[in-house]
Amino acid sequence: MKQKRYFKLISVSLSAVLMLSMMSFFWISKPLQMAKFVAPASADAVVNPVKGNAAATAEGKKLYTSNCVVCHGDKGQGDGVAAAGLAKPPADHSSAAVQKQTDGALFWMLSEGNTPMPAYKAVFNETQRWQLVNYIRTLAKSKK
Ligand code: HEC
Repeated sequence: MKQKRYFKLISVSLSAVLMLSMMSFFWISKPLQMAKFVAPASADAVVNPVKGNAAATAEGKKLYTSNCVVCHGDKGQGDGVAAAGLAKPPADHSSAAVQKQTDGALFWMLSEGNTPMPAYKAVFNETQRWQLVNYIRTLAKSKK
């Protein structure tokens, strides 16, 4: 009899701990998820080694089509098929807000990511990431 009460006490406190940890998880993950996505000023000074290189831009297009279009859309407008299911809308790469940033800043952002935007520094080498930056430049609204 006494043992039964003991079990009840344990299961009640266990579920309380579980609930508390779940609550704190959401409490902590929410602001993290909403953290503003900005490149550090130091990124602006990093020079794009393939700037203006048409072959690099063509490679970037291939990478973009197979890896980024799903969220960012085929014109980069943030309307890919997976966009609706995300906690945050994908950036519109054709927008002035994105295009006004330096190549270095865009390179930093696609390298580091910011959930749900994946980090690509372990996925693509530096050249490939610069190729992607070149391709993002072609998505500017004014050029379409
Ligand atoms: C799973 C969906 C998803 C995929 C795949 C994805 N992105 Fe994103 N991307 C996002 C989201 C969401 C944001 C906005 C993140 C934020 O504001 O915190 C974003 C933001 C960005 C930004 C920042 C733009 C800015 O100025 O704020 C760049 C650059 C970018 N993505 C490039 C890429 C590239 C290049 C690829 C492919 C190699 C890619 N993304 C693949 C979802 C995705």
